[in-house]
Amino acid sequence: MKLVRLRDFSFELRIAVSCLALVIGGGYTASLYFMSHHVGRKDGQEGLTVLDVEGTYHGVNRPARLLVVLEDDSQHRKDYVKGMPTEEVELLRSWLKLTEPSALQEQYDELPEDAPEEALAPADVIDERCTRCHSPGAKEGDGIGATVPLHNLPAVEKVAYSKKLDPISVDILAQSTHAHALSIPVFTLIAAGMLLMTAWPRWFRHGVVMLCFLGLLADFAGMWLARLNPGFVWLLLGGGAVYGAALVTALLAGLVDMWFGRPSPPPST
Ligand code: HEC
Repeated sequence: MKLVRLRDFSFELRIAVSCLALVIGGGYTASLYFMSHHVGRKDGQEGLTVLDVEGTYHGVNRPARLLVVLEDDSQHRKDYVKGMPTEEVELLRSWLKLTEPSALQEQYDELPEDAPEEALAPADVIDERCTRCHSPGAKEGDGIGATVPLHNLPAVEKVAYSKKLDPISVDILAQSTHAHALSIPVFTLIAAGMLLMTAWPRWFRHGVVMLCFLGLLADFAGMWLARLNPGFVWLLLGGGAVYGAALVTALLAGLVDMWFGRPSPPPST
């Protein structure tokens, strides 16, 4: 099959195709921006992390590392904090159940006004039971004080937050799929068409077009399969990355050949 080359288009049509490519590229960039700013806020940390994506499509329920070591059957408790009274464990646990960072920060070393004289705040318990190993320069604990210090609030905060994110509902995912699965392939087809109407080697043109659509399928499939198993988050991310790279390659390679490619030889009849 021999396609017309973009290179042979009139000047006006080539301007039109260039504008089309820029609009597609701009739209794609905007969607990446949206992703990183909306999905990226999910886990309370700036920027898009794998955990954000997992939270969005599978849900995440990860107790804080501090909570895990306080569990009744934790090896850490048997090994390092044997004599810790249950009330102190309970005190830390109920404090760690606070999910609002501001509440957690406030109640770290503050007691309610009506608290009895001998009452302890989480900071007191940690100081008493933990910092002899968990502080920078601690003599005990085989150096854990350097990697997991607990000597002040900022250090404690690093291991104090549990992550619980519910996946988006099937309704919303279906809505998003129907909107995107019917529109993205259309402009992808345009980008693919642009690449096919060039003089780049056949393996390159066909390969990039294949990757566009393979990546797209993997991306969409991953969004649904990740509900069942978080491992599919990688199918989603891998598919999205391959798709993005292939789309940008198709647009750029199309533009380059259209403006700078060698003119087609005159028809040999
Ligand atoms: C006698 C020393 C010692 C004391 C006391 C101690 N720890 Fe540890 N802790 C360790 C060592 C060693 C490790 C690393 C090996 C492990 O996890 O068993 C560790 C690991 C941890 C971790 C990281 C676990 C992870 O997710 O990898 C946390 C959180 C922790 N301790 C919290 C505490 C808290 C809270 C206390 C006080 C209630 C405490 N530790 C008291 C020695 C200690």
